[in-house]
Amino acid sequence: MSLTDDFKAALGSWASGVSVVTTNHDGLLYGLTVSSFSSLSLDPPLVLVCLNNGNRLPEMIDASGGFAVSILNRDQEDASNYFARPNREPTRGFTEIDGEWTESKVPVVKGALASIVCEHRNSIEQGTHTIVVGEVVEARANEGAPLLYWRRGYRGVEGGDS
Ligand SMILES: Cc1cc2nc3c(=O)[nH]c(=O)nc-3n(C[C@H](O)[C@H](O)[C@H](O)COP(=O)(O)O)c2cc1C
Repeated sequence: MSLTDDFKAALGSWASGVSVVTTNHDGLLYGLTVSSFSSLSLDPPLVLVCLNNGNRLPEMIDASGGFAVSILNRDQEDASNYFARPNREPTRGFTEIDGEWTESKVPVVKGALASIVCEHRNSIEQGTHTIVVGEVVEARANEGAPLLYWRRGYRGVEGGDS
């Protein structure tokens, strides 16, 4: 096993939620399944996501000036699989997965466990990925249980639904 394999195996041990990061630029909607979401600051309210430089999303967020994070619920594996599909093109409006527009005209996944809308604040390129920092301008939490990802598979919270 190489260090890369060991690193990947170690990273797979980190259980995370599953989010979809979306943006809308010139009427074109695009999003990506992302587990590297994190809260960053309470005052000002900041969050971050780490996005692969090979994907168009970091550039689109730069151009559009904003993005949203939809935190998926346990029943939204389809949305996770769709937004993780390689080589998808941006679309005019929602196609396979239902979405809705927030007050600030950013697309989010319909029925998500929570959604957070951000203005783009900073992008920091590091290695293969870019750390994208956003300032939260809208946030909403709904009832339900989260979709989790651990060791290359989807999971749920044992006994939890609050
Ligand atoms: C559970 C899960 C979590 C993921 N987390 C991230 C992430 O944090 N950052 C990222 O850039 N890609 C992440 N991906 C990969 C992207 O969603 C997508 O599959 C990948 O960019 C392939 O699309 P592309 O070839 O068009 O870039 C994740 C995929 C899955 C299934």
